[in-house]
Amino acid sequence: MEKTARAADQTAEKAVQRCIDSACGATYGLRERIYVCPRCGGTLEILCHLDASGDPAAMRQRWAARAASRDPRDVSGVWRYREMLPFDEPIPFVTLFEGNTPLYHGPRSSQYCGLDDLRLKHQGCNPTGSFKDTGMTTAITQAVVLGARTAVCASTGNTSASLAAYAGRAGLQSAVLLPRGQISSGKLAQSLDYGALVCEIDGNFDDCMRLIQELGDDPSIYVANSINPFRIEGQKTVAFEMMEQCLWQVPDHVVVPGGNMGNSTALGKGFQELLDLGMIDRLPKLSVIQAEGAAPVARLFATLDLKQAAGGANLPETMAPVENPRTLATAIKIGAPVSWKKALRAVLRSEGKVISVSEQEIADAKAIIGHDGIGCEPGSATTVAGIRKLVTAGHIRADENVVAVLTGHMLKDPDYVTAYHRGTLAIDSSAKDGSGAPQAIHGAFQNSPQRVAANKAAILATLERRR
Ligand code: F0G
Repeated sequence: MEKTARAADQTAEKAVQRCIDSACGATYGLRERIYVCPRCGGTLEILCHLDASGDPAAMRQRWAARAASRDPRDVSGVWRYREMLPFDEPIPFVTLFEGNTPLYHGPRSSQYCGLDDLRLKHQGCNPTGSFKDTGMTTAITQAVVLGARTAVCASTGNTSASLAAYAGRAGLQSAVLLPRGQISSGKLAQSLDYGALVCEIDGNFDDCMRLIQELGDDPSIYVANSINPFRIEGQKTVAFEMMEQCLWQVPDHVVVPGGNMGNSTALGKGFQELLDLGMIDRLPKLSVIQAEGAAPVARLFATLDLKQAAGGANLPETMAPVENPRTLATAIKIGAPVSWKKALRAVLRSEGKVISVSEQEIADAKAIIGHDGIGCEPGSATTVAGIRKLVTAGHIRADENVVAVLTGHMLKDPDYVTAYHRGTLAIDSSAKDGSGAPQAIHGAFQNSPQRVAANKAAILATLERRR
């Protein structure tokens, strides 16, 4: 299809692809296989022509009724909201019944953060164990709509696992570019098992992402990174599901980890659409937490004049990347996030914050979430660490209503967890040449395994010592 900017026929199409750069704003049809604006190189988003004249109560009821239906489109916690998605019926949807993830109260995590009540939305309970599935179902469905042959992505491990699973489901070939030696074994195992071609690249995630942007020109290839706006569309439904679970009482704050910044973009879009439709009456403050060693957006945010940037209208043109991102939370070890502009706009519109947290803070927050009986991966625990900081800083009040989004399951990275509890967790030296001693992380909630003799008395005595 010809890649020229055109005024798409807004009445005929349910949605268009649009450049987010306000000086450009070019629109493109949904069938154009593009990932950035062909006119100016800007980031694309999907503009859904939502009918704001409808009755919000009727829409809520329709969604609630579908949650009790056995129709596969309704069993999926993404396709249940299909009128909000940029697809025309009949949709050749590719689903593993994603979404439908629990919203838990976390009493110990609340106390740790200094909050009366913190809730945790566990996106790690998706089919491949991370939030990526909610966006992969729509991206791979779009790949099928376009007749693509091969789906590809760069990944820190979760996108690749999800892509491999959904491509496998659709009968598409898949290839994933992973930074060699920087992916947890659980995530690598998933991509292998779901049948993807796994390319281990000598470089970091940002190098893989650069390669993906080059590969996207090949007509046989469909790029499924979150630069692809169809990914964002699926991921935005998490905002809808969360609002149903909150009985439509808007949380004061929603807090997510930040890596490539697709998740924050998507949640921001989902809440904005609910507001535009009159289904909620205000936006939750959306805050994003990065790991200290991989925090380009938090760094930029700290330099912004918030009054001038309020509403997200005056976005900075550029963001300085972090050349050598460094964190044990490998999921978010990213120095040049592709969706930073869209995410920053969503944060500013909602009056949220972007901050960073240390390795120690991430590790201890993860253990506390574990004490609530909820297992998440290190990247996800940035949320609880960040909320604690935002409470201390006075941005979040103790009596406010807060939801943290946990993005991945604990079993994605058990090596990290056992190292924390055995007291052997350490991050490599920050010296660029790798020289210098690793920095040890002393777990405040360490729980190392005990060697116990094989008899009842020894077990009871060990138990007694722990009481
Ligand atoms: N949490 C987990 C568990 C992730 O895997 C990621 C990103 C994030 C948070 C950050 O989300 O990129 O939308 O800001 N993982 C990507 C991947 C980069 O390749 O799996 P984001």
